[in-house]
Amino acid sequence: MCGIVGYVGSDENNTMEVLLDGLSGLEYRGYDSAGVALADNSIDVHKKEGELSALESALPDTTATAQKESVGIGHTRWSTHGPPSDVNAHPHTDADRRVAVVHNGIIENYQTLRDELVDAGVEFRSDTDTEVVPHLIGTYLDAGIDREAAFRRAIDRLEGSYAIAAVFEGSETIYAARKDSPLVLGIGEEGHYLASDVPAFIEYTDRVIYLDDGEFARLTPEDVIVTDSTGTVVETSIETIQWDAEDAGKSGYDHYMLKEIHEQPKALRQCLRGRLDELNGQVELEELGDLSRTGPVQFVACGTSYHAALYGATLLRERGVSAQAFLASEYDAEAIPVGADSMVVGVTQSGETADTMRALREANRAGATTIAVTNVVGSSAARECDYALYIRAGPEIGVAATKTFASQQTALTLLACALTDQGSRNLVRQLRAVPDQIQTVLDTSRAREIAEVYEDADAYFFIGRGYHRPVALEGALKMKEITYKHAEGFASGELKHGPLALVTENTPVFAMVTGDSEQASKTIGNVKEVEARDAPVVAVTDGQSNVGRYADHVLEVPAGDEITSSIVANVQLQLVSYWVANRLGRSIDKPRNLAKSVTVE
Ligand code: M6R
Repeated sequence: MCGIVGYVGSDENNTMEVLLDGLSGLEYRGYDSAGVALADNSIDVHKKEGELSALESALPDTTATAQKESVGIGHTRWSTHGPPSDVNAHPHTDADRRVAVVHNGIIENYQTLRDELVDAGVEFRSDTDTEVVPHLIGTYLDAGIDREAAFRRAIDRLEGSYAIAAVFEGSETIYAARKDSPLVLGIGEEGHYLASDVPAFIEYTDRVIYLDDGEFARLTPEDVIVTDSTGTVVETSIETIQWDAEDAGKSGYDHYMLKEIHEQPKALRQCLRGRLDELNGQVELEELGDLSRTGPVQFVACGTSYHAALYGATLLRERGVSAQAFLASEYDAEAIPVGADSMVVGVTQSGETADTMRALREANRAGATTIAVTNVVGSSAARECDYALYIRAGPEIGVAATKTFASQQTALTLLACALTDQGSRNLVRQLRAVPDQIQTVLDTSRAREIAEVYEDADAYFFIGRGYHRPVALEGALKMKEITYKHAEGFASGELKHGPLALVTENTPVFAMVTGDSEQASKTIGNVKEVEARDAPVVAVTDGQSNVGRYADHVLEVPAGDEITSSIVANVQLQLVSYWVANRLGRSIDKPRNLAKSVTVE
């Protein structure tokens, strides 16, 4: 999704360098063009379709080293209105280049505004919804309105979602506004920053202010002023980010994804820290205060987070709570229905996913108690919900979610215990063991060999029951998004109801079988069904059952209970997908067509 960056500061920093660093820190969000605007006595705009490197090589040398401008904005665009092209790339300006604007979100009434501006004689250059903004500002400037008022008036006309930043010729100020799209301000020694996300400026400052919906910001080299929609100054608090630039780097790994897979033991230790009472077998979640549950629990989430939500709902149902996971894009609070005794849990790594945010807003309107289970402190989900439970995974840059999924599973296990007062010494002990068990998998996994054997497969299937079903779905999602090959995950019992027709000697089936319960033996029955049809079987198992006898390959996991072993088993699947994608030479950290943070519905 689009990313915004802005900088205004002293001569100590090279503005262009800060902007390019910022854009590179936002690359993970996914984009297809990039651009920057520097403001001085005039406005200098450079924009280019393609990777950031295309923009960098299109910059005139003088601009790359220029020190004179101390204010600028930049943008990575993920196309919505109009194809990727130099012209559609941001920033956009008014006809006289008095103002340049970058925008993340969707302006829903742009066609009406565009028609109005065209009727008034404005000529548009791009297909974007964004271009209406600088032209609107331009018409207000023409009417003699000052810059800030012109900016605010233009924003007042917009419907939809936006994080917007604008710079003006002859001004050392950035004006910004947000509604339903993330925007965070950075308070540095050498100036002030703004961005869609903290990695854009973490190497310059870790002190941040999260802008709220409906707020405006004015950034100058000297100060940052936040106001509400009426122009009244808002008291803000500066927060300190708990991770640094190194956490957001690759630390010697070839890909962020591989680094983040290997960070899982650390991520889970962070997630568990201070939350387990081993003596009493209890879970303590300070963030939830005295929250108690009476009615049903609904989870809303998308993609990988939805798989974690399925796992969370299973946990609660096993504890006697009526719980259901919904794809956020399909959630309809009226039809379900949701009431004051409902609890709605939004599971979202970024805390910005538009579908999940809409569902949470609906739930709030319906009077439900809402909880955000998220990785990003101060994110939109955290601010929208009554409570926020942080998964504490640290920054995840790879588009494919890995450590955040394991952290979501862990946090949801804690949440299920807390909501039902049903921790147990055994579960607490098992949770405590998970980081070490994952480390064992990372140290001993044969996933790379399996990837070598099956890199040419026609398709990959994943099966599991109970807690392993979400992992089967997640295994398939990971495989398809980074290898671009067909992969499907199924509840083991569903195979024979249709999908079995797809199974051939060229479609390996990955079966999750841990423990030796009835569930496990039923899945072993399903393994036999695919084996009888000549499909190769890869069992992910702790060796407690005899599934190994029917499998062509085994990926081992340490023995644990079913709840926690599904967290560990998933790591083997992450590694298989990673190595298949690696062998196929795919763009692992930025798979085609995908974005890390999906801020449109
Ligand atoms: O930020 P969120 O957790 O709300 O993102 C939801 C999905 O877009 C996300 O989980 C996506 O499916 C993964 N990046 C895929 O690996």
